[in-house]
Parts: sequence; C-alpha cells; structure tokens
Amino acid sequence: MAAKALTHPEEWIRRAVVYQIYPRSFQDSNADGIGDLNGITRRLDDLAALGVTVLWLCPFFQSPMKDNGYDISDYYAIQPEFGTMQDMDRLITEARARDIDVIIDMVLNHTSDKHAWFRKALADPESPFRDYYIFRDDLTGLADLRSNFGGSAWTQTPDGAWYFHAFAKEQPDLNWENEAVRREIYAMMSWWLDKGVRGFRMDAITFIKKDPAFPPLPPDGPDGRTDVGKACLNRPGILDFLHEMKDNTYGPRGALTVAEAPGVPAADLPDYIGPDGVFSMVFDFSYTDIDLVPGDLWARRRPWTFAEFKQRLFVNQLAVEKTGWAANYLENHDQPRSISKYFTPSQIEKYHDRLAKLLGTLFFFLRGTPFIYQGQEIGLTNTRFEDIDELDDVNSHGQFARCLDEGLTPEQALDSINRRSRDHARYPMQWEDVPGFGFTEGTPWLAFGRTCPDRTVAGQRGDPDSVWNYYKSMIALRNRSAWSDVLFDGDFEPDDTGDELISYRRTNGGSVVHVTVNVTEHEVDASEWLPECGTILLDNCADAAGARYTPFEARVWTDAEA
Ligand code: GLC
Ligand code: CA
Repeated sequence: MAAKALTHPEEWIRRAVVYQIYPRSFQDSNADGIGDLNGITRRLDDLAALGVTVLWLCPFFQSPMKDNGYDISDYYAIQPEFGTMQDMDRLITEARARDIDVIIDMVLNHTSDKHAWFRKALADPESPFRDYYIFRDDLTGLADLRSNFGGSAWTQTPDGAWYFHAFAKEQPDLNWENEAVRREIYAMMSWWLDKGVRGFRMDAITFIKKDPAFPPLPPDGPDGRTDVGKACLNRPGILDFLHEMKDNTYGPRGALTVAEAPGVPAADLPDYIGPDGVFSMVFDFSYTDIDLVPGDLWARRRPWTFAEFKQRLFVNQLAVEKTGWAANYLENHDQPRSISKYFTPSQIEKYHDRLAKLLGTLFFFLRGTPFIYQGQEIGLTNTRFEDIDELDDVNSHGQFARCLDEGLTPEQALDSINRRSRDHARYPMQWEDVPGFGFTEGTPWLAFGRTCPDRTVAGQRGDPDSVWNYYKSMIALRNRSAWSDVLFDGDFEPDDTGDELISYRRTNGGSVVHVTVNVTEHEVDASEWLPECGTILLDNCADAAGARYTPFEARVWTDAEA
C-alpha cells in the first residue's frame, strides 16, 4: 500500500525531535542553586550534539512558584531567578543558530493568585476582574469537587465568597466565558509568537470549559467529594474556545502545538488533531498512567502487565493514525522516571542501560514526534525520599495528606510518594562527574538524586555504548539515514507476537522497518511470529542476531527479503 500523502502537521513538526527542559533543574549559571535561562543557553551545544531539533521549556514566567511556575503572576515577565527578557531573547537566537526551535508552556486554565487580575478581583468585588475568575457567593447546590492536588476545588475569600481552582488554591481558574479574558490570552500568545517562539505546549487545556451551574455529582471518595476531572474535562463548547484561540494566535503562523489533553476519548480525536483539529498533537496518558486509577490515590497500585501496556500503546497509535499525528513520550516533569515505573529494582540493578535503551527504542520509532525529557537520555531513575519534608512538589504534599486522611500510615503514604512523586523528574540534571554535577556550584534548590550518581552526560558522551550515545543514534537513524522516510511518514502496523515481545513495523511504499523488544528477563524466540531478520539497524545488545531475543533486547531491523 502506498504511503498516505501527509500534510498535517507541517513537515518540520513531523520531523521534530523535541527535548523537554525543566528550567529550574537543568543548568544553573550563577551558583544560586537554581537552573536558569543562561544555563540553558550554555548547554545548547550539548543538545545540538545529541541531535534534538526543538526545545520545550517548562514555565519561566514571573511566578510565586507554588507549583514551580505553573502558577503565573505575569505572562509578560521572566521570573528573576531564571533571568531576564534579554536572556530569553538570546536563548531563542542562540538556539536558532543551531537549527533548534523553542516552544514554551502556555498555562491558560489558571493564573497565580498573585496575578494582578486576581488581586484586583479580590480587592474589589465590583471590579471587572471579578469576572475574570469563577466566583460564587455560596456553594449550595454546586458540585463538591476535589481539586487535582487534593482538598476542595473551592476556596473561600476573606469577603466570604468562593472561587474555583481545579489545581492548588493558589491557582484560581480563569473564566473563559468572559470574552475580555480570552482577548487578553490571545494577545499574550501572539506577543510570544512575535518574539520568535515556534509554538506552545498547552497546559491542562481540556479543563478550560466549565458548566457554570456546576451540577452536583455522586461522590467518588471517602472525603465525599468528586474528582474535578469528572466535571471539568473536555466539556461541550470547549471547541468553540479552542478554534477561536487557534484562529487568533498560532493557526495562521504554522506553529507547533502539543496539548496536555486528558479526558479526550479516541472518538473525539478528530476535533483536536488532524486537518480539522486545533493542535498539531496531543499527549496520550493511557500507557504512562497505566499504574494509576484515575483521580485516585497514588498509593492505590493498579496491577498492570506488558500485554496491557502494548494494547494501550497500539490502540492509541492506531486511533491517532486515522486522524492525525502523535506526540510520543515516556517521561515528563509530572511523571516518575520510566525505568523505575516499568521495571523492578532488581531488574534495574542488573540491566539498567539495557532497559533505558529498550524503553527508548520502543517509543522513539512510533509514528509521531518523539519527546525526550531531560535526563532520560542518560537513563536517570527515581531517587529515594526518606521524609515528606524532602519533597518540594505541591502535588506530592497534597497526595501525602490525602493518604493520611484516607487512613494510610505515614510509611504507606511515603511509599506512594516514592512511587509517583513528580520530584523524581525534577531533581537536578547530572552533567559532569564533579561535586554539584556541573549543574551548580551552589546548593541545589532540590536535593540531587540518590540512586545513580555515576550517570552524567559528560561521562556518557565519551562512551560509545552509553545510553546517551544510543539516543544520539536513534535520532540519527530517524532523522538522517536511508530509513528516515519510513521512520517519519511510514504507517504504523502492529506485529502479532504474543505477550513477551512488543513489536511493530513502519511501512512506506516497499520499505519496512520493524521495532521489536523483548519485555521479559528470559530469551525469546521470535521465529514463530516474525519474518527472518535481515539487517539490524540498531540494537541494545552487543551479540544480537537471528530470531533469538536475549533478555530485554530491543532491536530495530529490516526483513531479510527487503
Ligand atoms: C499540568 C502540568 C503540571 C501542573 C498542572 C497545573 O498538569 O504539567 O505540572 O502542575 O498542569 O498547571
Ligand atoms: Ca541560577
């Protein structure tokens, strides 16, 4: 079958390899222990050497940092500890000089409670800014919702009124029904595009439309409340806002947009992506949250298997393929490290590098644009927290409190934090084998990881077998090899291989490339399912050959006949 002539999204977006940066933890340039924009600029050569083409910067805007920048108090200003607007301009220019584009995080569901709009709304109930947010005089007859970070989604102000927040109480939700709010947002987004950013990651965007009546819902937890997602995600009418936003901002400019869009079922994908959609791509959570019960405590482990993982991954790929383009990822600033999530401590001890490469291989060649999270390219794992006071993440503290409220012991609560905390992804980056890891010459804002101090970018760059060099090879194979066309625009087709192998092929005209990984700790013979192996393009084991897959082997290969 001839490959489909894909025109959406634009080619530079389809060809992109995105690298996500959490500025606070990436590179400090002035020894205050906090990563900053000049630090990112300093590391551009390392990123160019890896081969990434787009940087996604998590928020660096002015913020009280209650949620590390996802609480913005001024969208037009840089938080001083991250630098200045000149530093930002320089970063964009220097990145461009290396053929790297910058996209930024747009937090549009809420602002900080310290944003001038919210301050004015609080100071004077008659001010026009009161209607920039969602205030109610009393809560009678309204849904008693549990915020995403635990506790009520309604908080009372000193004047007795209540305001709504889907996340922390310091993150009041904007009232998108108000046209003045929408105009302010579009002007701000256009201002950033004019500055030279090439697109946006849209934070929590499926939350923006609410039913102003907030009709009550059946409680789903011992606190008598209902998960806020059940009331506020992907509500009828949201598409009017999203189309208006697109038409007034990034649409006419061909920008890259990737949405954090929980709550969008496969049937609704054509509204969100593809030629009639509003974004270039959306993130799928089905396989990254496979260990969670949605809206429930992190402590409640959801048993899962690789068979189910495969099924979720493939269902999503096939659904997206019908409509548009995928955003493929394993990690981000909200997720624990992928190796730690999917494998056991003893497997990691024995096969650390191999597992890092296996997961990389598995996701990187799926149909779509790959997103790499900082540190993933050197195989970082979860750290270990010995006390709740070691945690910074607002969500970890909320979860900890919820666990205690629901009767868990402090040890059980801490255990769940160790499994799922967002701070596993947020401990500082490990660049060099020196005190401070080359991240800082000061005291880091969050303790360094405890589990893999031997993993640094400098150490791995010199080692041809390292995870870093494997990521570099994956990028080169996808972007600059004889197989690039099939790996970009080829169709995705599952291979039928039972539960022990996850295998798929990318096809384009006559070209076929297979990606096969053995997710077990024993050898697996693939000859029952797969054609004879021809050329091996990439492999995470030195002695790969034939139809036998060694434990946790991952292979990119072509049919013998091809
Ligand atoms: C998104 C972000 C997360 C943040 C939340 C509230 O989920 O990824 O880090 O806490 O939105 O803005
Ligand atoms: Ca700094």
